[in-house]
Amino acid sequence: MLNIAIFGPPGAGKGTQSAKIIEKYNLTYIATGNLLREEIASGSNLGKKVEDIIKHGGLVSEILILEMLEEHIFSEKPTNGFLFDGFPRTRVQAYMLDGLLLKINKKLKYLISLEVPQQLCIDRLIKRGLTSGRSDDNEETIKKRLIEYEEKTEPVMKFYKEKGIYKPINGVGTVDEIFKRIEKVLDN
Ligand code: AP5
Ligand code: MG
Repeated sequence: MLNIAIFGPPGAGKGTQSAKIIEKYNLTYIATGNLLREEIASGSNLGKKVEDIIKHGGLVSEILILEMLEEHIFSEKPTNGFLFDGFPRTRVQAYMLDGLLLKINKKLKYLISLEVPQQLCIDRLIKRGLTSGRSDDNEETIKKRLIEYEEKTEPVMKFYKEKGIYKPINGVGTVDEIFKRIEKVLDN
């Protein structure tokens, strides 16, 4: 069993590396940002509640995230474990994740943290914004997302450092170079 989370600022490459990780290690992928965008696209009640928040780069409330995750974690078909992307994003969510995993007798093995300088994140996201169609890939919202990250998400690192499962990874380089660094941690 391998339950891990991938962590890092907006544009760090979490989604990009996740695709490679889930394929190699056969993990169930739980990406809260993707799930929320699916809710928006489907026009659901949840989607309507979060649409504006995401567009402006804020964080969705903990309770909405919890309800959405409970639905997914307990209904997915079994694999070798879970890969969480974009969650936990606050210290409260870190405690939530412990609780959710405890309920199914599991625990998090690593927090894989992609370290990428802020300007490179901005450059990547502005470039992606040309084709992504994401409402939050514009310069103004990217800046807000980075501020939210610094204020609310970065403190999550400390929680996992204290647990001894925080694994920093240099997130600068080619996609394959970065994946090799992640494999080194996961294969040991
Ligand atoms: P979310 O979808 O999680 O977005 P994010 O964290 O802002 O990060 P991104 O998905 O933009 O970046 P990424 O790190 O995945 O990078 P990617 O691989 O795409 O969240 C969106 C919103 O939803 C939040 O702002 C919030 O409102 C809400 N939300 C989500 N989860 C929540 C939660 N738990 N609680 C509350 N609210 C929540 O790469 C970026 C670009 O760079 C791509 O174009 C990619 O091709 C390129 N790239 C990747 N790697 C490289 C490389 N090595 N070299 C060159 N280019 C690269
Ligand atoms: Mg992503």
